Amino acid sequence: MLNFGSETEPMNILLLGSGGREHALAWKLNQSVWTNPLYIAPGNAGTSQCGFNVDLDINDFEAIGKFCEKKQIEMIVVGPEEPLVKGLGDYFKSKLSLEKIYFIGPSADGARLEGSKAFAKSFMLNHGIPTAGYKEFTIDNYEEGVEWLKSSELPIVLKADGLAAGKGVVICQSQVEAIAEFELMIHRSKFGDASKKVVVEEFLEGIELSVFILTDGKNYILLPEAKDYKRIGEGDKGLNTGGMGAVSPVPFASPSFMKKVEERIIKPTVNGLAKEGIDYKGFIFFGLIKVKEEPYLIEYNCRLGDPETEVILPRLENDLVGLFISACNQELDQVRIAVDERIAVTVVAVSEGYPSAYEKGHIIEGLEVPVAKDSLVFHSGTRPEGSDVLTNGGRVLCVTSFAETVYEAVEKSRDVLEGIYYEGIYFRRDIGHEFL
Ligand code: AMP
Ligand code: GLY
Repeated sequence: MLNFGSETEPMNILLLGSGGREHALAWKLNQSVWTNPLYIAPGNAGTSQCGFNVDLDINDFEAIGKFCEKKQIEMIVVGPEEPLVKGLGDYFKSKLSLEKIYFIGPSADGARLEGSKAFAKSFMLNHGIPTAGYKEFTIDNYEEGVEWLKSSELPIVLKADGLAAGKGVVICQSQVEAIAEFELMIHRSKFGDASKKVVVEEFLEGIELSVFILTDGKNYILLPEAKDYKRIGEGDKGLNTGGMGAVSPVPFASPSFMKKVEERIIKPTVNGLAKEGIDYKGFIFFGLIKVKEEPYLIEYNCRLGDPETEVILPRLENDLVGLFISACNQELDQVRIAVDERIAVTVVAVSEGYPSAYEKGHIIEGLEVPVAKDSLVFHSGTRPEGSDVLTNGGRVLCVTSFAETVYEAVEKSRDVLEGIYYEGIYFRRDIGHEFL
C-alpha cells in the first residue's frame, strides 16, 4: 500500500448520483480506511446503508459547493456524466474554497469525450485510434448529408452529437429510414440541441465489450473489463435499456486482444489528452467492438458504466480511496491492481413496462433476508419510506454473484432474485448466455 504521509487521516467524501453504479461505488468507498464519513447525493435506499444520503440536485453546482464548504468535504466522486459535461469540475477549480478538494472526474474539456460524439470522433482520428469511418452534418450541410445517406451502405448509424440520455444512437436498416431519422434529428430537434449536429457512421459488425481505466492524466490503471446486456428480452431481443446485466471478466478478452486494446486505443487516448493539454483525472469507459480479432472504439464515456460497475468494483481488491488519491497526485504509476479472479455476474431487476412507461412506488419485499456470502444486492431505482423500500425507477436493483463459472454465478443471482418481490418484477434469466 502507498504511504500518503499526512493523508492517512479519514476524509469527508461526497459521492454524486443515485443508480446501481453509485450504490456499488458507495459500498466500495465505505470499505476504505480513508472514508469517514461518506455522503451520497441524492443516493437511493441502498446507498443509505453505506453513508448519509443528502438531498442535493447533482446539477446545482452552487448547492453542491455550499454543502462541501459546510461539511469540509475533501474528496468528491462524480458518478454520472451530466454534471461533468456541464463543468462541475471547472466550477470546483474556479472557487478558492473548493479548489483543493480531490475531484474525481474530468473537467468539461475532458468530458467532451462523452459529451460530443463529433469531438470524440475527431479525437480518435487525430490520435490514430481505430474506429468506424464517419462524417458530421448540421443544418448547414443538410442536403449533402441526405445525398451521403442515399449512397451509404446499410445498415448505417446516426448519432446525435450531444448527450441524449443514452437514446441518441439510431441504427437504420434502409436509406428511407436513415433520411427520415436524419430529418427528425436536424430539422425537428428530436434530441433537442443534442441533435443539431449528427454523426453518420459506418456500421461495425462484431461483439461488444466495455473496458475501463482510471487515469491521472499521465498514467493509468486498467480495471477489470465487462460485457453488458442491453436488450430487455432474453436472447438479446426487444428494446434497448440502460443495461439488464453484466459479466466480468469477458471470456474473449484474451491477453493478446487486451494488449491490442492498450496499445492501439488506451495509450493513444491518455497520451492524446496530455498532448491536447486536457487535464484528466477520472475514469474513462471505452465502448469497444471486436471485429474478427481487432478492437475498434465505438464510444468514450467519462464515467463508469452501469451495470458494469456492479461487477467490476466487487472484483477490484484495491482500496478505492487510495486509488483516487494516487490519481489526484499523479502517482498511478506506483499502483498495482489486484483483482479477484472469480467470475462476477450481475442480473438487473426492472419495473414492468421498462424501458417504456412503468409505475413507481411499489413496496419491495424480501430485502431483509441476508443473501449468501457470494452475492451482493445493489439498489438502482429505490427509495426508503419509513421502514419500507419502494421502487423508484425503471431499473430497480441488481444482484451480483461470484462463482467459478458464468452458469453458477447466474444461478446464484437468480436464487437471490427469486426471494425478492415487488409488483411487476422482471429480470432476464440468460445473462452471459453466450458463455454458458
Ligand atoms: P453509443 O451510445 O455510442 O454507445 O451507441 C449505442 C449502441 O449502438 C452501442 O452500444 C452499439 O451497440 C451500437 N453502435 C454504435 N455505433 C455503432 C457502430 N458504428 N457500429 C455498430 N454498432 C454501433
Ligand atoms: N452500460 C452502459 C453504460 O453505462 O453506458
